[in-house]
Amino acid sequence: MSENIRVMIPEDEVDARINELGRIITEETKGDELHLICVLKGGAFFMCELAKRINKKVTLDFMSVSSYGAGTSSSGVVKIVKDLDEPLEGKDVLIVEDIIDSGRSLAYLVEILKSRNPGRLRICTLLDKPDRRVIPVNVDYVGFKIPDEFVVGYGLDYAQWYRNLPYIGVVEGVE
Ligand code: IMP
Ligand code: MG
Repeated sequence: MSENIRVMIPEDEVDARINELGRIITEETKGDELHLICVLKGGAFFMCELAKRINKKVTLDFMSVSSYGAGTSSSGVVKIVKDLDEPLEGKDVLIVEDIIDSGRSLAYLVEILKSRNPGRLRICTLLDKPDRRVIPVNVDYVGFKIPDEFVVGYGLDYAQWYRNLPYIGVVEGVE
């Protein structure tokens, strides 16, 4: 399955960085509790690994969004396919994302979540492609800044495949 995948960030480096992020987020969380929001499906692998490394009373919720419009570039208008189960009012909230590309979908999501009055709202992404940014987003924690290449693994897919790879790779011959 993985023969056309070039490794960009090997598993041990991803794991080491998630350990570090868990430690930093623990330190920078003032209260005892932290509410993690996973943006499905891509954020799921990263969120599970990160949550295990945060030394707080962690609660989890899941949200699924899809971009309106066809094609590979997102329009930035986000449709909520599955909404959160729990209210955010007063909570210390951390959005956990797989990757930030144009920033369009996240910027839109942040506006929706802010309107639910969380006590604090931070963003953590495993990967960031800063060269692709169209809408600025204030990201609090970034695992790795990467060049403009289409990546898979650790939750990221190509046509729904490769999410389960334990490293970040590039599918050779795509884009
Ligand atoms: P944007 O920041 O609104 O452009 O959209 C980001 C979303 O596009 C991410 O949450 C991913 O689902 C998807 N995406 C962007 N770049 C990649 C990539 O390199 N591999 C897989 N999915 C990607
Ligand atoms: Mg995503």
